[in-house]
Amino acid sequence: MEKKDFLGVDKDEYSPILKEDSLSFLARLCESFMPKRVLEIGTYIGFSASVMLSSCECSLVTVEKNEENASLAKVNLAPYGDRAKVVCADAGEFIKRTKLPKFDLIFLDGPKGQYLNYLPYLKKLLNHGGVLVADNVYFHGLVNGKEFVKHKLRTLVVNLRKFLDAIKNDSDFETTVYDIGDGLSVSVYNGK
Ligand SMILES: C[S@@+](CC[C@H](N)C(=O)[O-])C[C@H]1O[C@@H](n2cnc3c(N)ncnc32)[C@H](O)[C@@H]1O
Repeated sequence: MEKKDFLGVDKDEYSPILKEDSLSFLARLCESFMPKRVLEIGTYIGFSASVMLSSCECSLVTVEKNEENASLAKVNLAPYGDRAKVVCADAGEFIKRTKLPKFDLIFLDGPKGQYLNYLPYLKKLLNHGGVLVADNVYFHGLVNGKEFVKHKLRTLVVNLRKFLDAIKNDSDFETTVYDIGDGLSVSVYNGK
């Protein structure tokens, strides 16, 4: 399905949907890595989920806090039947409490200021050899830049810096940060 055919799609340049180059990267990753089980944090209306579902034979669980978005995503992902499950919940609560089996690929695209807090829980949800992909790790250039960060964004930017440090320095992960979209980190989990 094309983006324009998605129910509720945002047509302006500030759409929260993943940037085209990051979507292509995710599609290529799914085609080559062929994950069986995928977890997505931050569904919006299900576009990145549909890209992953159509790029491999995975089953996918995607978590979205906003009820309206989750309802639209359920309609948009209906063509994938039982392979796609949209959970309307706070992702932080979900990852702490879920009893679901581990995942081969986790795509983190929810609240940016929470990536650091989510990391220990996401680690426990990854299979050995699994991959954690996080979007927006450069956050419009503010994470690596030297420019002044406005007060309302400061905690988010500091937390993203700490997230990148944590994941790069964690010996259980092998991390590469790609300069595509808004910055995409890809971390292969070598722990148990
Ligand atoms: C960048 S958008 C996701 C875009 C989507 N992955 C795509 O590319 O098609 C981030 C989404 O995360 C959701 N979100 C924000 N905080 C959340 C939370 N605590 N738990 C679950 N979802 C959350 C927002 O409502 C928003 O729809």
